[in-house]
Amino acid sequence: MYKSEKLVHQIKQLIENGSYSPHTKLPSIRVQAEISGYSLMTVLNAYQLLVAEGRVYSKEKSGFFVAESYTPKTVNDSYTSGPQTVKINSKVFSYLKATQRLDQLYFSSAFPDEKCLYNAKIMRILATYAQKKPIDGINKNMPPGNAKLRQQIANRYNIQGIPTHANDIIITSGALDALNLSLQTLTTPGDYILLQDTIFYGAWQAAERLGLHVVTLPTDMQYGFDLEAFKNILSTYPIKVCWFMLNSHNPIGFTVQDEIKKKIAELLQQHDVYLIEDDTYHELYYAGHRPLPMCYFLNNEKVLHCSSFSKVLGANIRIGWVRTTHFSEKIQHLQFMSTLSANTLIQSTLADFIATPYYDKHLQQLRKQLYQRKNNLYRLLSKHIPKECHIHYYSSGYFLWIELPQNINSIDLFNILIEKNIGITPSHLFNIDQSPQNYLRINSSFELTPRHEQALYILCNTISQLINKRD
Ligand SMILES: Cc1ncc(COP(=O)(O)O)c(C=O)c1O
Repeated sequence: MYKSEKLVHQIKQLIENGSYSPHTKLPSIRVQAEISGYSLMTVLNAYQLLVAEGRVYSKEKSGFFVAESYTPKTVNDSYTSGPQTVKINSKVFSYLKATQRLDQLYFSSAFPDEKCLYNAKIMRILATYAQKKPIDGINKNMPPGNAKLRQQIANRYNIQGIPTHANDIIITSGALDALNLSLQTLTTPGDYILLQDTIFYGAWQAAERLGLHVVTLPTDMQYGFDLEAFKNILSTYPIKVCWFMLNSHNPIGFTVQDEIKKKIAELLQQHDVYLIEDDTYHELYYAGHRPLPMCYFLNNEKVLHCSSFSKVLGANIRIGWVRTTHFSEKIQHLQFMSTLSANTLIQSTLADFIATPYYDKHLQQLRKQLYQRKNNLYRLLSKHIPKECHIHYYSSGYFLWIELPQNINSIDLFNILIEKNIGITPSHLFNIDQSPQNYLRINSSFELTPRHEQALYILCNTISQLINKRD
């Protein structure tokens, strides 16, 4: 038995014999290390194993606490192992299958309302290409992708003050492909990576598929990033790659300030760690200017910046990219073994569209519409949601992150609402913590039609009923 497993066993015994009752604070990592004689790393490992098993929960900046005993609920939670190995795919699959049956995704959708994304100009360009026989050069669109499109994307980095050549861009089939290829490029099975403890489930799925050990960084709800915890983790674990979302974070919505990004860059450099930045929502900011990506602050070699057009032109476009100055060839190798080129017709269409002023005009309109809709939903929700709940509002993206009272499990809410043909996204989908959780994400991009408002009232009433039942 490993030392950390021995410590897990000892703590479980203390929980089971009642020495540690629910919500008792465990000794801090340093104190536990002193008491037990184990290293800080062993203790941290043990605590994270207990968190993954749902025996213990962690609270930002407060430490680790004994969880209430509970029975797993209907959505299939399937973790069997510690924090360093991930099993999330079947949970995500069950959730996606359950929401696929809904008439309208509304609150649960990961994408903006398609009606906001439609653009007549791009459709006209697409039609012109579709009528051409044969379609513009298949070869020209093979990895690294359409040269004109890569140049257009590079131009947008240059405008932000990030010197970028078209050769630094590789076109992929959406951001998910870009992120997966980047992680595969930088890691081998068994490597340690660092993820924010709440993050887009694609990150967990990629870690599971590639057999990586995952360490998690606690979320700071105010600043979006806990620098102290980050420092500690980098000094404790042999982290090879961090995968972070720092702009319009999905699911929570925060954008990390430049000052903090600068410090993150310094720490990454100091510890010689790579960063994969998921910046899929980078165009959906509502205040000032487009937030800076980490390649602005960090040595080029160390950062792979991934994004796509999915959130501004539609998921069906399926075009994304990686910006990397050092790993282009390795990524292309992987592409030739897997997804090959992104759709040729769409690459050519996008290359022409982005070169026109219509693209920026579309983005401006989209931002305005999403901002208004987010505010409308926020106002309505604030009026009707039980006062014990807290809506975390950030001025970017199209998600609201809702905190329910403690002891109200968002999976219970999900299971009740899905029977009423209403979708929400419980926080369980964004982390590997098995214990009951009281957070959910809702999409605010849809027009508030009477049907949509009705769904909102049902959501608020159901939360009230769960609170009353608890009391
Ligand atoms: C944070 C985040 N990253 C990546 C993706 C994948 O985007 P794409 O559709 O471009 O593959 C999504 C999709 O929802 C997302 O929310």
